[in-house]
Amino acid sequence: MTTIIDGNEIGDQITDGVAACTDTLISEDVTPGLATVLMSDDGASETYVSMKQQACEEIGIEGFHHEINADEPAETLFSTIDELNGDPAVHGILVQMPVPDHVNKRDVLERIDPMKDVDGFHPENVGRLVAGNARYKPCTPHGIQKILAETGVETEGKDAVVVGRSDIVGKPMANLLIQYGTGGNATTTVCHSRTADLAEKTRNADIVIAAAGVPEMIDGSMLSEGTTVVDVGINRVDADTEKGYELVGDVEFESAKTKADAITPVPGGVGPLTIAMLMYNTAKAASLQSG
Ligand code: GUN
Repeated sequence: MTTIIDGNEIGDQITDGVAACTDTLISEDVTPGLATVLMSDDGASETYVSMKQQACEEIGIEGFHHEINADEPAETLFSTIDELNGDPAVHGILVQMPVPDHVNKRDVLERIDPMKDVDGFHPENVGRLVAGNARYKPCTPHGIQKILAETGVETEGKDAVVVGRSDIVGKPMANLLIQYGTGGNATTTVCHSRTADLAEKTRNADIVIAAAGVPEMIDGSMLSEGTTVVDVGINRVDADTEKGYELVGDVEFESAKTKADAITPVPGGVGPLTIAMLMYNTAKAASLQSG
């Protein structure tokens, strides 16, 4: 029997813990605060940011939301970040990616105070992660570690294949998988658009993490029996629905399910964990900054 991993259930368990931690902080007169900044007209980005703000509200974290027109100069975003860096009520700052082409992503990430960088994208935090001394683990890879742990999937000594080399998921995921300790110790291969024979890599994997952003690129024929499949893709594809699109992952679910031991669905798999770990990092940020 294939286990369909329930990301909502695992996310809710983590969120309950974060809510308890938030209550304790509030009783000590520290209300964790998360600022989200959206500089984009993209509908999906708008949805993600509003889900993050909604999670804050449910947990008791104070949300601050800033929207900047996508055609404003980069300076507008930088001065918003500067203000948030200096605001003691704000413990975490998240600038939703991607930012418009005229804004240099790296300048944005470096502008955020590393102590408030709850995404874990600032070079200082990336360096700490690689060094095995993470301050804030990036939310999606951290959430995937939680999914594997909760599903009873050992990583130690296993062959893990990460498909996709993004700064947000692929690179930090691979880094976490090769770290010493629980959730790590995996022999890890990172595949990408120039990989010569992707199916050969995925067929030899015990764990496949699909994070390339290409709809249904991995199907059952590319997997061996017993693989754990984690699908990070959330792709909008045109469909005859009320919204005019449907969400599909990077994995072709029906055929992959026939091979996998355990698989995450889209939606309801990795997505809820990304938000839960953002809440976790925000509570941690508040705790670190109040200590
Ligand atoms: N865009 C897609 N995923 C993320 C994320 O985890 N953080 C930010 N800031 N932007 C994203």
